Amino acid sequence: MADDRYGVPDEEVEIERSRLEMLAEARDPRTRRILDSIGLSLGWRCWEMGAGGGTVSAWLGKRVGPDGAVWSTDIDLQFHRPVLPNVVVEQHDVTSDPVPESAFDLVHTRAVLQHLPERDQVIEKLWNALVPGGWLLVEDGAFASFAEQTLPEPYATVHRAMATGATAEWRDPNFGVRLSGRFRDLGAADIDMTGNVWAMRSGEPGGEWWFLAMERAIPRIVQAGLVTAEEGQTALAQVRAPGFVMMSSLSIAVWGRKPAK
Ligand SMILES: C[S@@+](CC[C@H](N)C(=O)[O-])C[C@H]1O[C@@H](n2cnc3c(N)ncnc32)[C@H](O)[C@@H]1O
Repeated sequence: MADDRYGVPDEEVEIERSRLEMLAEARDPRTRRILDSIGLSLGWRCWEMGAGGGTVSAWLGKRVGPDGAVWSTDIDLQFHRPVLPNVVVEQHDVTSDPVPESAFDLVHTRAVLQHLPERDQVIEKLWNALVPGGWLLVEDGAFASFAEQTLPEPYATVHRAMATGATAEWRDPNFGVRLSGRFRDLGAADIDMTGNVWAMRSGEPGGEWWFLAMERAIPRIVQAGLVTAEEGQTALAQVRAPGFVMMSSLSIAVWGRKPAK
């Protein structure tokens, strides 16, 4: 998701499919490492919220085994991959559909909350969905340093518009930075966190999650009058040029446990 709150126009479906695959390939290894470190086990009941392509849900399904269960939800299921029978895939809008309380040993969401204006209410719903002793893991971006890096024009203008959320007023591009405070406010125990950046290159998952989002966003950035259509095409050519490399956004993960009663 780049500029749309949700809903992918037909002509952008294949770009979005590739983008979600690239996002997953770039970020799944860290997600899996964190989940292993908190002791994800057979029999756990998990909720993957905003599952996208469903790669984390599929992996969770294998890890929790037939006695465990995974609820894999997204407002848009068209990109979700097939999964084991212990993974229930459901269309669900976290902002308005009912959420069970005290139902899960683990709730995970990645790259979703920063896009939702209701993020503060939603994180409380995720928290309330945990059983005492259950874990919440939230991964989100922090785009301030990403927006400020030195880049060639006209890509720099396109990049800044996207990275600061200038084309989407509902987005909080720095929600990752606010996460640890939210966990503190929730009263989470055993809070831990990590964050990282990486080199972004065309043709690699670490770059394409953003360059494909840009491909989708350029018509809207042109429409907003920030660059001309020609400059938009030049910007795309700049990031696709052989040898071009830039720094990624900061990806922050915070996790904590609901105190056992
Ligand atoms: C940037 S993608 C991240 C996908 C996946 N979590 C990942 O990291 O690979 C954001 C996802 O959030 C979903 N989403 C957006 N608004 C939602 C809502 N209100 N309820 C549930 N899912 C939502 C989108 O459909 C999309 O799949």
